[in-house]
Amino acid sequence: MLDAGGQYCHLIARKVRDLGVYAEVRPSEYPAAELAGTRGIIISGGPSSVYDPGSPTVDPAIFASGQPVLGICYGLQLMAYLLGGEVRKGEKGEYGLASLDLSDTTDPVFGGLGGCQQIWMSHRDAVSAAPTGFAVTGRTDTCVVAAMADPSRKLYGVQFHPEVVHTTRGKELLSNFVFGVCGCLKDWNPRHRTALIEQEIRDCADGRKVFFFVSGGVDSSVAFALTIRALGPERVRGVYVDTGLMREGETEFVGRMPGLTVEHASDQFMSALAGVIDPEQKRHIIGEEFVRVQERIVESRRLLDENWILGQGTIYPDTIESGGTAKAAVIKTHHNRVAGIQRLMEMGRVLEPLKSFYKDEVREVGRELGLPAELLERHPFPGPGLAIRCLCSEVDAPVRPVPEGFLVPVNSVGVQGDSRSYAPVLAIDTLDHDRATGLINRLSGINRVVAPVETRVPVAQMRAGACSLTPERIARLRRADAIVRRLSHQSGYDHEVWQFPVILIPLGIAGRPDSVVLRPVDSVDGMTARSVTMDEELLRNICCEVLEIDQIAGVFYDLTHKPPGTIEWE
Ligand code: XMP
Repeated sequence: MLDAGGQYCHLIARKVRDLGVYAEVRPSEYPAAELAGTRGIIISGGPSSVYDPGSPTVDPAIFASGQPVLGICYGLQLMAYLLGGEVRKGEKGEYGLASLDLSDTTDPVFGGLGGCQQIWMSHRDAVSAAPTGFAVTGRTDTCVVAAMADPSRKLYGVQFHPEVVHTTRGKELLSNFVFGVCGCLKDWNPRHRTALIEQEIRDCADGRKVFFFVSGGVDSSVAFALTIRALGPERVRGVYVDTGLMREGETEFVGRMPGLTVEHASDQFMSALAGVIDPEQKRHIIGEEFVRVQERIVESRRLLDENWILGQGTIYPDTIESGGTAKAAVIKTHHNRVAGIQRLMEMGRVLEPLKSFYKDEVREVGRELGLPAELLERHPFPGPGLAIRCLCSEVDAPVRPVPEGFLVPVNSVGVQGDSRSYAPVLAIDTLDHDRATGLINRLSGINRVVAPVETRVPVAQMRAGACSLTPERIARLRRADAIVRRLSHQSGYDHEVWQFPVILIPLGIAGRPDSVVLRPVDSVDGMTARSVTMDEELLRNICCEVLEIDQIAGVFYDLTHKPPGTIEWE
């Protein structure tokens, strides 16, 4: 898997592994000679244009090596550009669902995939003429070369993203490439890797002891359990830090894990975050405070000597979305990649046994270890906790009427065409996902669309108020989150969704300055996601209880898929 800077690069590798075939990620410029032993090569997408100075490229010798090559999105454009085709620079781009019309279904990559099918597009530039020797095998209404192939040289390219679930038959396409064209064998299974990971843990620890900060999430819990198994309980310590940014009941739940102690540090985190509005700054502060807590604990327990290293439950997506591979655009910096941790990493004092695994592979490893389902099936919860679900604002301004609805002057993070965006939200009047998707693609300057479910006053009368992260607002959000979690658990809805963030936004009226946003999503791994619908009765029950919370003006529903909106709002 050659990484041309796309945030989906690892997702493609993961999809290949899902098919039972081992895949590794390498920088795009990796020399062809060193790829000689591989069965096939895939070039990822990326945010660049082939015309940008310094944009990622590949060693052109890979195209003459006889190895099968599949270019995806930017990978296709690069292949076309380097082999003499034409790439047209795009202005606005195309993001979202499209219909692919396959003109040549006898091609091995498209074998068995006849007719029209749903695909997912996320690109700006496009190939306007395929290179000599290639046949155009697929097109859409807007894209004249949506797929191209030169079977004699085993070279293939697709403009769309077969690795995301919204390309309905993408898995078959990857399977055709991996098995049909590359001739790979199905012989990869993460459950068989536990012995190897344990050996890697022993090698990395190199006689030292390991200290973990366990968040209670799947990743850190599995990493902790694996390390105990690899090194024995006497060489592993775990601490759960109560940052004051956790959900209701969380400290009690995690505190029950064997081998863990709880460190209460909420005052420290809250005072460091006072007045901070910017999401990236929040993450950095939380990361730095984590390191401070770590240092304090290490010092107070006399763990300062070189015999200790820090263990972390980092997984692949944490590294990729932080720009962890050579070229990936930074969407959000995960707190396990902030400066303090980077320093420790440079000193060889960080153990990350799961950093090349994906969430569902980590769950498989956890099952292999015999960890309880209650723990393994928990929804993911971000390390920075409620801090990045409690939006703050510098502006004090009313919502602005626009022809499509109301522009809410609260910025949230999005990911558009592989780059990060930070933009206001559009509120429309109906819970209509299709309309929301259409509007995001059409309107520039927004990356998210919500609809009111129930509000104390019409949205037209609401305003965004300047506010920061206060214990009162965190407590308000915690209450709303606890209500949503209880009701969605009782109704069984929590098993239907992949994650269900609850967000507090500073939108309201005098005396009721905040609103709550419901963000249930379906996803496979968090890299892409779909906003999903909810049963009306559950929605009514949630509104009824949430609107009883002091100072809450309304309940909104986030209709945005990822991309263009990230799952979290910050
Ligand atoms: P986004 O919002 O980037 O989220 O679409 C993708 C997944 O990552 C989680 N997430 C985080 N996890 N530290 C974490 O440990 C973070 O800073 C962070 N930001 C997002 C998010 O909950 C979702 O599962």
